[in-house]
Amino acid sequence: MTSTIKISALVGFAAAGLCLAANAVAAGADAALLSDAKRIFAPLPAAPSAKTDQAELGRRLFFETRVSADGNVSCSHCHLPDKQGSDGLPKSFGVFGKINPRNAPTIFNAALQFKAHWRGDRETIEEQAEKSPTGAVSFGNPDFATVIAKLKSIPGYTEAFAKAFPGEADPVTQKNWGKALGVYERTLPQPTRFDAFLNGDAKALTPAEQAGLRKFIDIGCVGCHDGVGIGGDKFAKFGVVEDYWKETGSKDPDKGRADVTKSDADLYVFKVPSLRNVAKTGPYFHDGSVAELPKTVRVMAKVQLGADLTDKDVEAITAFLGALTQPVPAHYSALTPFPDDAAKK
Ligand code: HEC
Ligand code: HEC
Repeated sequence: MTSTIKISALVGFAAAGLCLAANAVAAGADAALLSDAKRIFAPLPAAPSAKTDQAELGRRLFFETRVSADGNVSCSHCHLPDKQGSDGLPKSFGVFGKINPRNAPTIFNAALQFKAHWRGDRETIEEQAEKSPTGAVSFGNPDFATVIAKLKSIPGYTEAFAKAFPGEADPVTQKNWGKALGVYERTLPQPTRFDAFLNGDAKALTPAEQAGLRKFIDIGCVGCHDGVGIGGDKFAKFGVVEDYWKETGSKDPDKGRADVTKSDADLYVFKVPSLRNVAKTGPYFHDGSVAELPKTVRVMAKVQLGADLTDKDVEAITAFLGALTQPVPAHYSALTPFPDDAAKK
């Protein structure tokens, strides 16, 4: 009897020991994943307040259609709240239904990136905003003076610019248009579950998402998609290992940054996009050539890293990318247009 008890006690002890060891390994793996992730990425800093006069003016301008050539196009025409700040189309269309040459990225993360646009042909989001109203396929105005004249003709705007830019004799300017929109755009990034993970909450990611993060790091996606934006801090050739269009099926391949710099070294070079919100912003790539995220992941592995991913790896990485979705901020919506609310003051 005594020996039986002893044996079962020993077995129990051994089993408990194994269990503890397994837990310790799991905890060790979590800790290693977290410390690797902290080395490569950074959590989102707190967004500035959306309640300032400049941010509120920017919000108003963002949803204003009356400054476009056909009266129908606002920034939100191609960066929609219900599409996570993108438009769900392969390529956007602007005034009079004109098609843009490229896909509309989400703007939620634009402020985090080192340059704007797929080819990095805008230095800042402010420069982007200043130029958009005179784009032939966006707002379609002949010059910025037309935009200013339209703004000044809508009761409420002159006062709102004056309030946002106090002390300026004539505050309705192209520069202030860009500035207000930039201030507003900077209020849009919101923390995701991945930010909670980076801030030390290991349980913020499911085991499947953690497995995907591990893969994303180990196979080298992080060579390009890193930092606070999980991308958005450098340029890279699209198609390092093989021509991208062989996998995406893109017709008439875009030469990328080479068309901006006129340098062969920039052939098929694009900004590495931020992957924040990517699960919600398809179709993918600069030309919207791939509709589904799992296929996008497979194409990336193939053309950037020369890797053929298993279905399980694609599923894991896709799961991880899903943890990069932020809530849509309540202030990513239109205010009552002028002059209605201006009249109430
Ligand atoms: C007709 C559709 C359309 C309209 C209107 C429009 N955009 Fe865009 N936006 C796009 C497209 C397409 C791109 C990508 C252009 C490129 O890379 O060549 C883009 C890119 C951007 C980017 C850069 C994002 C990144 O990740 O690089 C920002 C910021 C942006 N838009 C803000 C705005 C603002 C602010 C307005 C209003 C002043 C505006 N957009 C109006 C379609 C539009
Ligand atoms: C050598 C740099 C590099 C590596 C490595 C890399 N990417 Fe990319 N990634 C890019 C570039 C550049 C683009 C933009 C391509 C384009 O022009 O459409 C991109 C685009 C993407 C997109 C589409 C984003 C969008 O908004 O349309 C996803 C998703 C993506 N990468 C995921 C990954 C994954 C997953 C891996 C690892 C398997 C990976 N990337 C490896 C450079 C890289």
